Amino acid sequence: MADKIKIFSPATVANVGCGYDVLGFALNGIGEEMEVSKRDDGKLVIDEIIGFDLPKDAAVNTATVAARALLDAAGSKQGFSFTIKKTINPGSGMGTSASSSAGGVFAVNELLGRPYTPAQLVVFAMEGEKAVSKKAHADNVAPNLLGGFTLVRSYEPLDILSLPVPEDLFVTIVHPQVEVKTTDAKKILKKQVDLTTAVQQWGNVGGLVSGLYESDYDLIGRSMVDVIVEPIRKILIPLYDEVKTQSIADGALGCSIAGSGPSIFTFSNGEETAHQIKSMMQTKYDEVGILAYTYMSKIGKEGVRVI
Ligand code: HSE
Repeated sequence: MADKIKIFSPATVANVGCGYDVLGFALNGIGEEMEVSKRDDGKLVIDEIIGFDLPKDAAVNTATVAARALLDAAGSKQGFSFTIKKTINPGSGMGTSASSSAGGVFAVNELLGRPYTPAQLVVFAMEGEKAVSKKAHADNVAPNLLGGFTLVRSYEPLDILSLPVPEDLFVTIVHPQVEVKTTDAKKILKKQVDLTTAVQQWGNVGGLVSGLYESDYDLIGRSMVDVIVEPIRKILIPLYDEVKTQSIADGALGCSIAGSGPSIFTFSNGEETAHQIKSMMQTKYDEVGILAYTYMSKIGKEGVRVI
């Protein structure tokens, strides 16, 4: 059994418009790297975090919190050292805490000889999510560990489904550099939803899932309507309405908030439209002097993996 491993853990987009806390997908080639090695003293130690200033305290960092949950469940006293190379800053909406949570449990599971399946690892990775957002949501860690597009059909009991992805579906993301903490973005949501609103929302979730199965791009687009979360959270995101309106005018199938924001994502049918929208997004933020990073990707078929 190896003593050391290097892994890549993808960034993810949760909610996907109408599917608050249940829908999510992995990005392709965008994410973080982690090196994990065994140590003899039974401790979990973060040696280095490259890229951003994040807690190295193993009781706080999502990678080690999630790894600890796995080790406790497995009854293992094995220690591990972690070096984490982040490429996206925290509070982006691109699932950076989940990348570490899922990366931590995946690496430790590999080095222990794979006692758990990827689906079983979701429960441990959710503990990392709970450490940062107070809620053990799975919509980022599920696609991170399983790859592709996933639906959390139920939390209790946990039941996660993998959904098909149409071949020409492209994602464009803009990440304006303002931090939105998931805890805050969750706190501002209303706790009650009226029936008329709920009917609209679950109609759209069903439509989106059907669109993915049928490769019906128009149905995917018209189902990306969120009448519950987006109207509240969008006020935290500079230029949200402008970017959304222009994206649709430029041919995007739909546009919504990535995870809890501030990143905004669109779906497009084909690379050319996705590319054009990427340039438009960059220009919009450049014009008002807000630093923003843009990304373009297909949906990542593979989740966290050894590199
Ligand atoms: N579903 C979570 C939320 C994702 O929207 O709060 C956080 O990235």
